[in-house]
Formats: sequence, C-alpha cells, structure tokens
Amino acid sequence: MRCDQTPAWRALQAHANKFQGFDLREAFRSDAQRLATLSQSAPHVFADLSKNHTDAATEALLLALAEQTGLVQHRDAMFRGEPINNTEGRAVMHWLLRQPPSAAPTVRAELVEALAQVHTTLDAVLAYAEQIRADAQITDVVNIGIGGSDLGPQMAVLALQDFVVPGKRFHFVSNVDGHELAAVLKGLKAENTLFLIASKTFTTIETMTNARSALAWFQAQGGVDVARHFAALTTNVVAAAEFGIATTFGFWDWVGGRYSMWSAIGLPVAIAIGAKGFKDLLAGAHAMDQHFQTAPLEENLPVRLGLLDVWYRNFLNYTSRSIAPYHSALRRVPAYLQQLEMESNGKRVDRNGQALPYGTSPVLWGEPGTNGQHAYFQMLHQGTDIVPLEFIAVKKPTHSLKDHHELLLANVIAQAQALMLGKADEGGHKHFTGNRPSTFLLLDELTPASLGALIALQEHRVFVSGSVWGINSFDQWGVELGKVLAKDIHARLVSGDAAGLDASTAALLSRIR
Ligand code: F6P
Repeated sequence: MRCDQTPAWRALQAHANKFQGFDLREAFRSDAQRLATLSQSAPHVFADLSKNHTDAATEALLLALAEQTGLVQHRDAMFRGEPINNTEGRAVMHWLLRQPPSAAPTVRAELVEALAQVHTTLDAVLAYAEQIRADAQITDVVNIGIGGSDLGPQMAVLALQDFVVPGKRFHFVSNVDGHELAAVLKGLKAENTLFLIASKTFTTIETMTNARSALAWFQAQGGVDVARHFAALTTNVVAAAEFGIATTFGFWDWVGGRYSMWSAIGLPVAIAIGAKGFKDLLAGAHAMDQHFQTAPLEENLPVRLGLLDVWYRNFLNYTSRSIAPYHSALRRVPAYLQQLEMESNGKRVDRNGQALPYGTSPVLWGEPGTNGQHAYFQMLHQGTDIVPLEFIAVKKPTHSLKDHHELLLANVIAQAQALMLGKADEGGHKHFTGNRPSTFLLLDELTPASLGALIALQEHRVFVSGSVWGINSFDQWGVELGKVLAKDIHARLVSGDAAGLDASTAALLSRIR
C-alpha cells in the first residue's frame, strides 16, 4: 500500500500535530530511559539518536508504517536478487559483492554462480592491486571516472589515508573541465603513471573525454605500453577493448553506479590499502548487511535511521540534512552521501510512475567539523529553519599530536549539546532557542572495516526511506535530459545555430561563442 494511504501514515500525521510542542530538554527530563531507548549499537557504529525530535511512541508508529508498506518484504526481495530496480529490469545486489565465499550455502541457488563470479573477479582485482603496489615504477595512480565511479573510491582512499601504501600518489579526475585533468597531468610522468578508466557504462562523456586526453598525453610523452599503463573498470568490456584497453576488470548491471565502490570500481582503494585492507572493508560492510537483514526492526540501525528520515521529511517538514564528519579524512563523505541519497531518492513518482503527493529525498550537504562551525553553523543554531545534523565522530586518532583530538571531540559533543540546550538567559541576538535535532554516529576507530560498515549503513538507510516512499531508489532517469541537451548545445556552439532556442539560451550561446 502506498505510504500515505496507510493507517500508520494517518496516525503519524495526528501524532505530528501533537508533536508541535516537543522539547528535547523536557523529553530528557521526563524520561530517564530516553538515552537507552534511543541508542543503537550496530557493527562498528554506535548511534545516539536521543537528541532527535522523536520518541518511543513515534518510533512505534514508524515501525507500523514500515510494516504496512512492506519494508521487510522489499528488503528480502533485494537480498533474494529479485529485479527490484523495476524501471531498468535489474536486480540490486551490491551486497553480494561483500559476501564472503563461505556464504555460498546461505545464498539462493540462483545467486551461487553470481557469487562465484564476484570472487573470481575480486581475486583478479586484488592480485592486480598487489602487483601495482609492488611495482616501484608506478608512483601515480590516476582514477578517471565520475559520479559513482569517482566519489566512492575517492572518499575511501582519503578516509583510509593512514593505511595507504607509501610511495604512491592517488589522483581523481572526474570533471569534463580540462583544468582538472591538465593540473593533474602537469605533475606526472608517463612511465610512472597508471590510469584507471572507471565507468560502469563506458559511455559517460566526461570520462570518455578525459580518457581520450589521458591516452593522447601518454602517447605524446612517449608512452607505448598501454596495457601496462591503462586499465578499465567497467561492465562494458567490449567498449573498453574498442577504446584500446586490454587490461579490464568487470562487474555487473546489478551493481548501481553509486553502489559500486565494492566492485572493480574499488580498485584504487585496493591498490591504496592492499588486498587485506580491501577485504576488511568488504567484511565491515557485510557485517552491516547482516545486521540490516537480521536485527529486529526496532533494534535495526539502518531501519531506525531511514524511518527517522521519513518522519523528518514528511511529518516535521525538515527538508535537508547536514552531515558533519568530525574527522578530516572523512571530508568527502558528505559529497559521497549526496549522490547516494539524492540520486537514489530524488524521485517524484512511485515505482509505477505515478506522481507522488508527498516529499522524498531531503537535500544533503555538509563539511567536516570543526570547519563548518566557523561557517554555516550560525544558521543551524539560530536560523529560521530546522536542519537535522548528523555528526560522525571517531574515538581514537591515528596521530600523536597533543591536544588536537580531545579538542576535536570536545567540539563535536559540545555542538550536539549546544544545538539541543540552547541558551535562554539572554534575549535578542544572543538567544539560542535550542531544541535543534542531531544524530551522533560514533566509530571506535577509522579502519577499512569501520568505514565499510558506515557506508553500508548509509546505503541501507537510503533503501529504507525509499522503500517506505514506494519509489525505485536504483534508477536515475533525472540525469538524462541534461546529457541530451548538452549534446545539442555542444553542436550549436560549433555551428552557431540558435534556431528554435529560447531567448535566454540563445543569448548565452552567442555570448559564449
Ligand atoms: O549520470 C549519472 C550517472 O549515471 C551516475 O549514476 C553514475 O554513477 C555516473 O553517471 C557515472 O556513470 P558511469 O560509471 O557509467 O560512467
């Protein structure tokens, strides 16, 4: 049943009306169990949800909504490998990439062959990664890809910088803007460089343009051994071969681009942190998969987070979520999560193409703390809109600089506290209303395994809200129109033909020509 037609939705609407006067400070005073009720441990991640605008009664209603919209059935259909990406007729099985080979007896018979292929490819990817790690001549690895073929590996290589093999630099080129590639190439030598052309489709114009320029640069520098200096990561092995790349690592159409860092797209990560590190990353994600699949819904962290997202978006009308990782190595996590959430759930129709009368994906944004505190936190504390914050903190640092980490952690705790408590004793400009919601995710340490768990957690929470909203979280038709029009405008930029264009577009075209 569509979510807004369920009894639980109506009950949540009534509940939201009563919730108008909800005050976090009062909620803590009146419920000694609040922290315990609204804390949740999951593999590698502890979550304190207690500073959110929610309570046990809200969660109970949200769980009823999950039940009435068939969340469990939908989740289980994904894990059975059914084609839940209905608009593309594909299964959604990024989770299978994280299954250990020993899981074979527990996966459906139809998937045993797919799992075997996953491990054959993984073994090849990891062997190649080890070979490159041992190859002292290769000092620079350049990943050319965009969207899911860039954000995941880039985010993970940065996040795991403490585990990165010495003697190699990693570069990520995504933009069709040649300034980006040109700046990277400036510092490179052909004989020391490995280019990874990462594209699920091997047709993406940005990636193909950058790949062609990289190949031309390589040859102009006297580079000859393309097989040694270029590798392709793609589901379109034929196109990669046509391009002239012989070294190819494949994956499958059931891996969505934004869910692909666990596949061959993760090769830069595997080179950076090694086979063992990459396996740990997969194991951390797999542990979260199991939690999502087996924990009772009321103790299931992705479920609790995803339902909270629905509550905020549809009942309290909070339209954005800010991500604040208090760890500089996690600085690309907000960008990664932007694609994950907004490309998955930024949909205005349900799975059958019917327009929806309720809101879906929130706007996601953020910067690492403490930087954000000195920029936009003003608005979070005293602005007119409520923006739920999601803090991500890591208990143990990997550096030994005195004072820094205590100060960092003091700040993240204090921000969550300040948002909630506010400050009433002074009026006007110095008044903080408080009662501003936040979630606190805590990792003991930042390792391949904990990063894997954190990212899988986010994938599944996006699944949960998308499932309740009844949308297909695994297609992205919304990116197509711009691609088509860019092709047309590109031709017009060359020809100067402005016929049939609106006045603004025509004027911009003529100004730029
Ligand atoms: O245009 C959007 C998109 O298809 C994303 O979904 C994807 O991650 C990105 O482009 C890159 O696609 P590809 O890996 O096929 O080059």
